[in-house]
Amino acid sequence: MSYYSIFPKLMRVAILFFLGITYQPIFAQNVGALNAIDLRVEYLENPVGIDITNPRFSWVLTSEERAKKQSAYQILVASSPNLLDNGSVDLWNSGKVISSTTNQIEYFGKTLESRMQVYWKVRSWDNDDNPSEWSDIAYWSMGLLNFSDWEAGWIGFDIPAEELDQDNDLELAPSPYLRTEFETKLESKIERATVYVSAMGLFELRLNGERIGEDYFTPGWTDYHKRIYYFTYDVTEQVEEGANAFGAILSDGWYAGYVGYGRTLKGIIDGERNFWGRKTGVRAQLEIEYADGDKQIISTVSDLQRRINPVQAFNPQSSEKVYNDNENIWVASTGPLRESDILMGETYDSRLENLGWDRAGFDDAGWQPVTWRSNPRGVVEAYPGVPVQIQDEIRAIARTEPSPGTYIFDFGKNFAGVVRLRVRGDAGTKVVLRYGEMLHTDGSLMTENLRAARSTDTYILNGGGDESWLPQFTYHGFQFVEVTGYPGVPEIEAVIGIAMNSSTQQVGEIEFEGDLNWGGPAPLVTQLFENIKTTQFANFFDVPTDCPQRDERMGWTGDAQVYFRTSAYIADVSAFFTKWMRDVRDAQLPYGAYSNYAPIPFQHAFDFSPGWMDGGVILPYMLYRTYGDKRLLEEHWNSLTDFMEFQKRAAGDNNLRPQGGQNFGDWLVVGYNTDKDFIASAYYAYDLYLMAEMAEALGKADEARSYRELFSEVKAAFLEKYLLENGKLTEDSQTAYSMALAMRLYPEEFEQSGADRLAELVIENGSRLETGIAGVSHLLPILSKYGHEDIAYRLLMQTEYPSWGYSVINGATSIWERWNSYTKEGGFMDPTMNSFSHYANGSVGEWMFSDIAGIDINQPGYTKFEIKPLIKEAPFSGVSAEHKSISGMIKSSWTKHANSVTMEVSIPANTTAEVYVPAVSIDVVTERGDNIANVEGVVFNRIEGRYVVFDVQGGQYKFMSSEAFERL
Ligand code: BGC
Repeated sequence: MSYYSIFPKLMRVAILFFLGITYQPIFAQNVGALNAIDLRVEYLENPVGIDITNPRFSWVLTSEERAKKQSAYQILVASSPNLLDNGSVDLWNSGKVISSTTNQIEYFGKTLESRMQVYWKVRSWDNDDNPSEWSDIAYWSMGLLNFSDWEAGWIGFDIPAEELDQDNDLELAPSPYLRTEFETKLESKIERATVYVSAMGLFELRLNGERIGEDYFTPGWTDYHKRIYYFTYDVTEQVEEGANAFGAILSDGWYAGYVGYGRTLKGIIDGERNFWGRKTGVRAQLEIEYADGDKQIISTVSDLQRRINPVQAFNPQSSEKVYNDNENIWVASTGPLRESDILMGETYDSRLENLGWDRAGFDDAGWQPVTWRSNPRGVVEAYPGVPVQIQDEIRAIARTEPSPGTYIFDFGKNFAGVVRLRVRGDAGTKVVLRYGEMLHTDGSLMTENLRAARSTDTYILNGGGDESWLPQFTYHGFQFVEVTGYPGVPEIEAVIGIAMNSSTQQVGEIEFEGDLNWGGPAPLVTQLFENIKTTQFANFFDVPTDCPQRDERMGWTGDAQVYFRTSAYIADVSAFFTKWMRDVRDAQLPYGAYSNYAPIPFQHAFDFSPGWMDGGVILPYMLYRTYGDKRLLEEHWNSLTDFMEFQKRAAGDNNLRPQGGQNFGDWLVVGYNTDKDFIASAYYAYDLYLMAEMAEALGKADEARSYRELFSEVKAAFLEKYLLENGKLTEDSQTAYSMALAMRLYPEEFEQSGADRLAELVIENGSRLETGIAGVSHLLPILSKYGHEDIAYRLLMQTEYPSWGYSVINGATSIWERWNSYTKEGGFMDPTMNSFSHYANGSVGEWMFSDIAGIDINQPGYTKFEIKPLIKEAPFSGVSAEHKSISGMIKSSWTKHANSVTMEVSIPANTTAEVYVPAVSIDVVTERGDNIANVEGVVFNRIEGRYVVFDVQGGQYKFMSSEAFERL
């Protein structure tokens, strides 16, 4: 019999009162209509080892009923799930908080300490003040918050000179393998085992013959002189009773390996590798907690450290036992991994495998002592992002043999990752895998556009039967793999594509019905959208890279800012960009400019460029709009103001373009190249506008005012220089009008004429593009905003060069760097800069969501949004889109038949949408056949142009407009 049935309610209240616990109606009579799901902490689901001591909560509300709002919430946080369930929380009880907020809510309980395991749940009261059931319990744990929590030291292995291949002109060295063994105590049960690990370079940790965790390219790319991340893994299941083996394999990674175009520009820029250090190292600490309260720590430690102080070698403040003295000895050796480099590839000689090296009992007598490494200069922090993981296995769709013994596998799409090789043959046989994005006309692999990235993986067989190999510290951008040296003819399954990228969860999808009217092999826009997604995922690789294949792969700030909104429609990029915004700050130049890329391994002749440095302003603003994230704005604020001071100084008295640095302009435009200073000034003004908005969001009224004033002055100077009396711009180009209108630089009275001129220019250009990456992201949104929906759709459906469609009809499976990366007449563009996986020109994905499906943000974090689809001129019979926002799942689909339209929308509980239904009047609109005036959750707001606008509350609705476009 339960506690609840024995005691009547009043008595329960009295007992609880007596125990000092306030009665909470956990089992309320009226269960409210809301459901709290998708609980997150710092944007992550049940994160392990965070180091933020006031983490932020979010959840999503759902309801079977319409128009449900949250009137209040309560969060309970405890150190065990039991405490949550019996209502006696020990860390935080928020109490009933009157608020509709479900996101960015800060923890405000007891101080969180290192290693804590924390459980939480939430409930929400609806608009009738009925509480929901409690949500499922969610979890997070704290990492190591203090320097003194680290018992482990940094160790590495200096590869003996005789193992270095003197003829290897890339000077790639074998990877170190490090190992130790330890015994667990048998008298007590192991309750929990946790590993904390970081590396200079890349690590793979091994415990008892298995890999720890599913992350690759850890600890991620940062400016290691400023910060270096650690990862936390729960390994309770992997620790064995008694003897255990613990080890690590290291690789140069970004830390010491080849990065960017260092080798291609040898002599021009400062170095080609070793940008942060020459020697890899690892720091790992395995903590085992026993049921009897004992704790055992197995740490990376060198003999030298041990000799200096056998108990507390490098951390005199610590009171904890450092290591199991004699048992925990680390030794090192090389092994089968002879070369491993992100850009150059891997070489694995399986004859050199130290079988069983990562298991207890292995004879490591021939292994060497490890070397002590000094602490890296950067702070050691918990990784805040989403690590790279294996996402997919991709089977080849074809295998050809362009020359005898040379096989080419075609994976059907251009992605990032490696391949898994399966082979059987004689010991010493060498199979070479080369990766490429395209084929030459003779069917051979095109690799010229990879520049100095060797992108070659080599496997040497041990002859022991069926062998299988997956490279792990390298990746490539490719659609094709060339295999040579394979014993016999490889089966098509001998080489399987392994797609890898940061695990940004997909949250957006869009489908186009009836998209067949151009007569090609695949629906045009459907394929274009596929190409956008593929290219995004291939490039969101710890940082947003420009491309995944050539010797570049850097986080270019210009590309990221033009593409951000598309990326956020497609995937949850909240934690990914939270991490990268730190990189952007770390890369800020001493005089205030944001760098052209982050992290910044080397300085190019140029430091900063308009359009690129402005990413430092545009991105936090967009993140705030998308996720409601004010903390990011706070963290970024000083850096932002430094940047604006730099701009002001550089702009000088005329308030125009900041002088100096590089000026890339409308990068890779085909046709008229809009004046670069025009673009620079427009960005400067736009930054000021956004600064005012952000200052306001942060309650910095004075700063908001002064940024607004300066914006007006810069705008006036801009118009003085670039606006003609007839309302046209001196720069009469697609890019100029798109940018000036999007960046709010046009005087109101001329806005429409500016947009009309833009439409004219597009028509004069045969409805083809004449923009680079700066102009193109604004072009379609501006055309449709000012009533030129038809022209916007014409551009979208265009298949003549230059256009998006041109790449699609020429077989693109990804977004190309240039409009002319390949043309029928000219073939491949100059390979010195020609990537076939560059997301910037895919920024049209934003318009697909914001205008074709019509889903757009109104209030930060989608607490209020609009659904305003462009239906009339659409070349499709229907569209169906969904986007899971931070406030819940939004759906928008529509179908049209001659003059009528059906719109089905799904609005998350606790949000409001302005839904724009195309209709000649309110009388022709119904919802599931009902007169719109009587529909719960729907209130008429206004008529705007061709639309009747309704305020719609949470729920699912099916609107029908019987006269959508004209009076019958
Ligand atoms: C990169 C671009 C980048 C540009 C800046 C290129 O090499 O691939 O994406 O924005 O340089 O000029």
